[in-house]
Amino acid sequence: MTSRAVCPGSFDPVTHGHLDIIARAAALFNEVVVVVLHNPSKQGFFSVAERIDLIEHAIAASPRAAAITVESYADRLLVDVCREVGAGVIVKGLRGPGDYSYETPMARMNAHMSGVETVFLAADPRLEHVSSSLIREIATHGADVTGMVPEVVREALLGKIGTLAPLE
Ligand code: PNS
Repeated sequence: MTSRAVCPGSFDPVTHGHLDIIARAAALFNEVVVVVLHNPSKQGFFSVAERIDLIEHAIAASPRAAAITVESYADRLLVDVCREVGAGVIVKGLRGPGDYSYETPMARMNAHMSGVETVFLAADPRLEHVSSSLIREIATHGADVTGMVPEVVREALLGKIGTLAPLE
């Protein structure tokens, strides 16, 4: 039985949805490696260093923080990252049919290539609508993202965007 799992993603930025999946993965496996995968030719909203910093701040409050580490990899196959970090399983959240359609071919391909299995956790229904892309979009237009992302991320969004005020 594998004891180390990988939680991969772009995390641009990390949301409460991601953190729920990371915490639940840490309850199932001895160690969790949060892997920030990025394409160096694509400009993110947050830099990779900022994304890692935000995840590390956000998980610091977790009772399982000691079991969770954060790594980043550029332009790599996830199965190669799993091999490098010694993880035998990938943990992903599924928010609905769209995620299922997108994620299952990748899960099957990863298992086909390497034998690494993907464990899907059903997303918390209260967070099903929360994605990094929607967070970026609504925050950019001035909406309040309290409750959807950790406070450290909300502040970083405000700092990045500059002039946002929470909605009354
Ligand atoms: O947060 P995201 O953008 O949904 O994360 C998607 C990610 C980065 C986890 C996914 O695109 C991925 O696994 N990329 C790594 C490249 C890879 O292994 N591709 C082949 C998949 S079968």
